Amino acid sequence: MDAGTRSEPHVIRKLETPRLTLRLMQESDMDDFLFIFGDPKVMAAFGVEIFNREQMERWTRRNLDHQARYGYGLFSVMLKSEGLLIGDCGLEHMEMDGVQATELGYDFRSDYWNQGFATEAAGAVRDYAFEALRLPQLISLIRAGNTASRRVAEKIGMRCAAEITRDGIPYWKFSIARASHRPP
Ligand SMILES: CC(C)(COP(=O)(O)OP(=O)(O)OC[C@H]1O[C@@H](n2cnc3c(N)ncnc32)[C@H](O)[C@@H]1OP(=O)(O)O)[C@@H](O)C(=O)NCCC(=O)NCCS
Repeated sequence: MDAGTRSEPHVIRKLETPRLTLRLMQESDMDDFLFIFGDPKVMAAFGVEIFNREQMERWTRRNLDHQARYGYGLFSVMLKSEGLLIGDCGLEHMEMDGVQATELGYDFRSDYWNQGFATEAAGAVRDYAFEALRLPQLISLIRAGNTASRRVAEKIGMRCAAEITRDGIPYWKFSIARASHRPP
């Protein structure tokens, strides 16, 4: 992992992997995200309808606000060879049962699935979270049955810690602790 460039204290603007650049999300990425979140194959993972432009704007704005508040968020994932935005991957602060947690998440264009891109991006975000941000632990809440996402979590060293239900929906709760992770 390239630690990226820092132009503001504590904010890493870019992560590099062999095939991908993960860079700070911009408002102008909205159209590319609409291509992803407007795809029924992607949205099936969440059990919801495809996003319209207004929902996509809200989602993008929420992540930009999160980035400004916490200094980290979801990156836009660029495929170097094509200069194309193919997904998002990054971190989201959340509260679970009154406990603060950081979730690692990812969503990719369906025409780029199964080429190892989510695993490559998520591995870089895991290393950034543990080495640069020094977070003690990461979790991923994966809707039960989302086997592709489960595989990505497993491939970056996360383990299923529990099966939980939130708002009546069953999830696999994956987690990984910094203490159990060997830096690359
Ligand atoms: C989950 C997602 C990000 C994975 O992206 P990806 O780039 O295809 O992931 P990778 O190629 O790195 O790895 C996918 C793994 O899942 C496996 N997989 C894919 N579909 C599968 C299925 N239906 N059943 C079982 N395994 C499956 C692949 O074989 C691969 O595992 P392997 O390397 O052991 O063969 C992508 O499917 C996606 O965007 N889904 C919709 C949104 C989503 O689910 N986001 C996560 C919410 S928790």
